[in-house]
Amino acid sequence: MNLIFLGPPGSGKGTQAKLLSERLGMLHLSTGDILREAVREGTPLGREAKRYMDEGKLVPDEVVIGIVKEWLLSKGVERGVIFDGFPRTVAQAEALDRMMKELGQKIDWVIDIDVSEAEVLKRLSGRRTCKNCGAMYHLVFNPPRVEGICDKCGGELYQRDDDKEETIKSRLKVYKEQTEPLKDYYKKLGIMKSIVGEGGIEEIQKEILKVIGVKVTNA
Ligand code: AP5
Repeated sequence: MNLIFLGPPGSGKGTQAKLLSERLGMLHLSTGDILREAVREGTPLGREAKRYMDEGKLVPDEVVIGIVKEWLLSKGVERGVIFDGFPRTVAQAEALDRMMKELGQKIDWVIDIDVSEAEVLKRLSGRRTCKNCGAMYHLVFNPPRVEGICDKCGGELYQRDDDKEETIKSRLKVYKEQTEPLKDYYKKLGIMKSIVGEGGIEEIQKEILKVIGVKVTNA
């Protein structure tokens, strides 16, 4: 099974994708994580991407499509993939359809996670991420046991550069203008499922499992 998680910044795509990939043994592809890694390493890709990310803009389609193509070819798709943060434009969605077709695969479901703008602002201003393993926390909604330290690996927690209020507003604007049109694209294909993204993390995970028709005993 291959899934796309759609939704505004801070809707919980990454949180839910990580949980679901661990639960079902699927692969998790986050274009945001790949780009941030390139920025940290100071590669040519990272230096180019940083200019866009710092302003809350999208990295050009051809760059991101190239990253996804390479990732799919190197990791394979046999275990099923959860696409988190990709596609974000109609051009990316069309490219993904072509890539999946070439691999003899298809997207089964697109999960649209709906949250209000006020909730997004609260969530992103309190988000903290582990530098080492990428685990995600929130200062209020999902705090680590020890402040500043990852529960899972003991790594240091940091705040993302693009989680400043003015950058969040720009990311929300970009989402409305460039990514929301994907809802119609996938509705027409009959594979869109919308869920309410406000509530407990486990509660939302259960809803996702329900809409994709998976029964698990530990959920
Ligand atoms: P990306 O990293 O994809 O960021 P995003 O889409 O803006 O999404 P976020 O990671 O901010 O949020 P999320 O929905 O994953 O929520 P999370 O689970 O973290 O992209 C960053 C940038 O990279 C883009 O702006 C762009 O420049 C570039 N980029 C990436 N992909 C691209 C592409 N395809 N094309 C072009 N450019 C691209 O949760 C947020 C917080 O809320 C956390 O603290 C979490 O603990 C908390 N939380 C989660 N669920 C709940 C809940 N149910 N209740 C309370 N708190 C919760």
